[in-house]
Amino acid sequence: MSDKNPEIRKGLYGVVVDKTAISKVVPETNSLTYRGYPVQELARYCTFEEVAYLLWNGKLPGQETLIRFSAREKALRHLDRHLIDLITSMPKSCHPMDVLRTAISYIGASDPESYTKDSEHIRRTALELMAKIPTIIALDIRRRRGESYIEPSRKKGFAENFLWMVFGDEEGSPANNRADIEAFDKSLILYAEHSFNASTFAARVVTSTMSDTYSAIAAAIGALKGPLHGGANEAVMHNFIEIDDPAKTEEWTLNRLKNKDLVMGFGHRVYKNGDSRVPTMSEAFRELAKAHGQEKWVEMYDIMEKTMYDNTSIKIQPNLDFPAGPAYYILGFDIEFFTPIFVMARITGWTAHIVEQNENNSLIRPLSAYCGEEQRSVPPKSH
Ligand code: COA
Repeated sequence: MSDKNPEIRKGLYGVVVDKTAISKVVPETNSLTYRGYPVQELARYCTFEEVAYLLWNGKLPGQETLIRFSAREKALRHLDRHLIDLITSMPKSCHPMDVLRTAISYIGASDPESYTKDSEHIRRTALELMAKIPTIIALDIRRRRGESYIEPSRKKGFAENFLWMVFGDEEGSPANNRADIEAFDKSLILYAEHSFNASTFAARVVTSTMSDTYSAIAAAIGALKGPLHGGANEAVMHNFIEIDDPAKTEEWTLNRLKNKDLVMGFGHRVYKNGDSRVPTMSEAFRELAKAHGQEKWVEMYDIMEKTMYDNTSIKIQPNLDFPAGPAYYILGFDIEFFTPIFVMARITGWTAHIVEQNENNSLIRPLSAYCGEEQRSVPPKSH
């Protein structure tokens, strides 16, 4: 590498920018661990609340600690009147990620200590955001449907409370169905953390300038919104609905490949032999589809997966968004809310990274190779 001809890794492909003790992705063995625990085991044996505690504190909570932690989270779920007014005044035509980003900015503007670098304070902020984000999303879902706001429960668990705030407790509501609640909880665990992905890196870049937690989260929401990142779970479901028929799925997929169009929900920057989170989410999706009599989506899922594998030279496989998109659809969520739900989970990973970045900070400021005009003089103005 010379100054004249520097090596450029576009998209920071393969570049290691820092250390982290929060999660480890090993693409070769197809494994992902949070603080040393395999994500599949966390999804099987833990709740999302336990995983949030783990990401922030480095260890799983004991029974007593978990009760205290959950009680603190439940007490922070409510929104103040001004925030409710702000959310309900936003245009219904905007994407719900815009509402969420704006709400986070409002909460930050109301925190006089937003600039603190104290890890304990940031962990408290993290808990408050984890508690309030579901309420913000549920309010936004209901006001767009013309339904009235359901106040958060101070008793229900995290996943159950969210389903209840969105769907109420009428017959057929997933909030009344233990299997639905557990499948949703699993999806949150799988979405919680994933090392230096684009949105987490955005949060770390903002944090590295010694800016505040809320600004870092607003940046992360902006990064997650894009269809190459979190927005893919929405795109997956739009595609399924567009195809709408298992018999047409193979042809549709082959056409996309022929036209060199991306098939959303496939491929990954790090995993090249399959995403370690997919088997757990795919199982949950299949169970949901069976229980809700919507197995058509599973048929389409299987055909698309096989078509991609068989017809791409690098055997492209699904990522987490591929089973998560239709799973959220079966639960009854409006498609534009799939990415905000991702935020509900990833807020835990983002804030764990904000603490880590703060505790060992160095301004993130890469270099670029200039390829524009050589230096030249501004021509004199003719009067
Ligand atoms: N559909 C069709 N082709 C794909 C593809 C997809 N989903 N993902 C990758 N490819 C192709 C690329 O176009 C590239 O083809 P080329 O060599 O002819 O140019 C080849 O596979 C290698 O891709 P790669 O460079 O390894 O991908 P990347 O690391 O740059 O990109 C993603 C990773 C996630 C951005 C990419 O796979 C993608 O856009 N996927 C769809 C969006 C998505 O699901 N995002 C969620 C990620 S969790």
